[in-house]
Amino acid sequence: MWGRPMGSAGVPLLLLLLLVVGALCRIAGSEGGKEPPAHFLAQDKGECHFLNGTQRVRYLVRYIYDRQEIARFDSDLGKFVAVTELGQPAADYWDSDKVYMQYLRAEVDRFCRYNYGVLQGIHVIGRRAKPTVTISPTKADPASPNTILLCTATGFYPLEIDIRWLKNGRPEKEGVAFGEELQNGDWTYQRQVMLETRPERGDVYACQVGHASLEAPVTVQWEPRSSNSARSKLWTGAVGAVLGVAFLAVGLSLYLKSKKGESLATSFQQPADQAGKHPAYDRMKNGWS
Ligand SMILES: *[C@@H]1O[C@H](CO)[C@@H](O)[C@H](O)[C@H]1NC(C)=O
Repeated sequence: MWGRPMGSAGVPLLLLLLLVVGALCRIAGSEGGKEPPAHFLAQDKGECHFLNGTQRVRYLVRYIYDRQEIARFDSDLGKFVAVTELGQPAADYWDSDKVYMQYLRAEVDRFCRYNYGVLQGIHVIGRRAKPTVTISPTKADPASPNTILLCTATGFYPLEIDIRWLKNGRPEKEGVAFGEELQNGDWTYQRQVMLETRPERGDVYACQVGHASLEAPVTVQWEPRSSNSARSKLWTGAVGAVLGVAFLAVGLSLYLKSKKGESLATSFQQPADQAGKHPAYDRMKNGWS
């Protein structure tokens, strides 16, 4: 027979939602007089289900033999029920124990509601962390006109979150793929929702995120870059053309000036005997050459 499951009741604070008291124990005098196997795993799990804060609470104690749940106490029924045939004798045995049943029926208050208050006090229950929302566009295939828009919400708690894609203000359903939630390891989660789409000029995409931490949904917008980048290319070209013309004009004028100087110098006839002796002429020549 199973031992009386005191384990779940003895540890009020640490294990609330899922209490696992893994225990290797002997089933003494198992039915049919069969010897139990040399190794087996017996577990009991106490679960508190809070359906509306502490308004509606359901307490379950599951008894698991190896990987199979064989019997459970259900506070909604106020007794044990067998889940498999193997659990029937145990369920009957525990149900006949008036003191133990009384004790288990009080667990919704003593164990569940009490610890709910404790966890609320240390902000485990009621904890809220706002998501950070970003959009990152990627091209799966450079040849394809399709773009993959990835909306990432990260750093939020609790897990429940509503992430949706809007195209020009309307919910987009096609080409949407939801990623699995990831645990950041610091009591926050992240989740990605992908949209594969063919953006056209003027389209406005938005990723809208609703979460318990937010008073109103957060919306992040994205517009196709093509129109923007075309405009910036036009500007670059225009500025380049203006600069080019300006440099050409300056260069041309310098060239013409030097050409003029050159022709003046070469056409200037100096008296042979004054060559190299006339300072004004030397200055003029050095300046031009
Ligand atoms: C949840 O509990 C509150 C009281 O705390 C009650 O006003 C509300 O109606 C309940 N909601 C549901 C869905 O039962």
